[in-house]
Amino acid sequence: MNVSEQTWDRLHDAAVEAMRHAYCPYSHFSVGAAGLAEDGRIVTGCNVENASLGVTLCAECGMISELVKTGGGRLVAFACVDQDGHACSPCGRCRQLLYEHGGSSLQMAMSGGITTLAAYLPDAFGPENLEEKKHTCK
Ligand code: THU
Repeated sequence: MNVSEQTWDRLHDAAVEAMRHAYCPYSHFSVGAAGLAEDGRIVTGCNVENASLGVTLCAECGMISELVKTGGGRLVAFACVDQDGHACSPCGRCRQLLYEHGGSSLQMAMSGGITTLAAYLPDAFGPENLEEKKHTCK
């Protein structure tokens, strides 16, 4: 899908707006994520930290939760920002979350420009791998 310049701007603005809601009393590192679903919906999330640090939810977790809750569908474009509105690279776990709902062709606004998830998570493991083996596991 061709994502227009205007849509990238809307995604960026949505990510910045989400970032302002971050709960990050431990790292003081606010993150906002925004995703464009194939039907045109924009879903967002912010990071939500926890005193038990490992329980922290990344911004992408909230975004994916909203995607699923509001009807699901595939993600086609993604933007993630830090507190300065600069592109924030998704952590490894979040790349896997993005892969499940967007696949390799998910377009991403990163610091070097527009790229795809294929560049950030090459040779990904996903639902298709489970499909192959489903009938052979004992
Ligand atoms: N964080 C995200 O929200 N998404 C990422 O992909 C990278 C890291 C958050 C988690 C934590 O609250 C803060 O950034 C510092 O790691």
